[in-house]
Amino acid sequence: MSPFLLTRTLPVDATEAALRADVLAGLSRRPKTLPPKWFYDARGSELFEEITRLPEYYPTRAEREVLVAHAADIAAASGARTLIELGSGSSEKTRHLLDALPLLHSYVPVDVSESALTGAAEALLAERPELNVHALIADFTGGLALPGTPGPRLVAFLGGTIGNLLPEERAAFLRSVRSILSPGDALLLGTDLVKEPDTLVAAYDDAAGVTAAFNKNVLEVVNRVLDADFDLAAFDHVARWDAEAEWIEMRLRARSALTVKIHELDLVVSFEEGEELRTEVSAKFRRERVRDELGAAGMRLDQWWTDTAGRFAVSLATAV
Ligand code: SAH
Ligand code: TRP
Repeated sequence: MSPFLLTRTLPVDATEAALRADVLAGLSRRPKTLPPKWFYDARGSELFEEITRLPEYYPTRAEREVLVAHAADIAAASGARTLIELGSGSSEKTRHLLDALPLLHSYVPVDVSESALTGAAEALLAERPELNVHALIADFTGGLALPGTPGPRLVAFLGGTIGNLLPEERAAFLRSVRSILSPGDALLLGTDLVKEPDTLVAAYDDAAGVTAAFNKNVLEVVNRVLDADFDLAAFDHVARWDAEAEWIEMRLRARSALTVKIHELDLVVSFEEGEELRTEVSAKFRRERVRDELGAAGMRLDQWWTDTAGRFAVSLATAV
């Protein structure tokens, strides 16, 4: 049996303290907002896995197609001995990379969801008992304290999760990734691409209502952790394409005027009829934007691959 280490860099109570601060700030501004990382408790991680299997949600299949087609190119270009994956979730697509990297010594999945990390590590170790898995419960937007595993390193950030960061957050995030790259290391980045709005909206508003349940789960998290009384049935899921920002915006709309008590914060929040709470953006990219944003953070776009239908791109970048 190979070593499996689970390291927590988020203090156990950081979740609650940070959620308090985020809820207080987000619900007192207009429009009201809640930051996306709170979607991913155990139930949220399960719902996300369900989303990846929906007929309307093409990004997972499109990205997997690229990884399968180019795993050997990625492996040859990086020669990685350590694969660090940010927001690794179930690590499902990552298997294609792990299988292609013959020199791999360690896999370091990083996620805020402890249940996703332990589930992924168990499944991986059952299949590849020789792999060192050093899982980190951490926020990838904070500074990362990485284990001292051998280089070269490949940092993977898949799933289009970079699109869930706002532009300023994205710039800061890319600079922090750049700061952990040594010469010879590389970044593998998955980005969903700008396309027909109908296709995009359907991917975030599926017929079975799984995305609606996922979106509303953030209210369930606030109810549980901060002892609030959000009535999930009183909100509608809304997914809208913002053509100017080129992102999908996810919202929760109050069906009628209502108030919510958040006992842990001693706070009463009122919603007007039709008032919307923004829960998440999912930015869609063009090649030039990916190149420019990498460039602004001190990285060079070396390779760009898309699926055959041109829906999703995977980029390989190195530090300049
Ligand atoms: N990479 C997987 C999962 C994508 S979903 C895939 O491509 O299918 C996004 C993942 O990022 C979730 O597992 C979520 O728990 C994690 N996540 C979201 N915000 C995070 C943050 N700030 N720090 C660390 N992990 C985060
Ligand atoms: N990274 C995923 C994406 O932007 C996350 C996601 C998928 C998501 N569906 C969602 C986030 C619905 C909030 C609501 O595609």
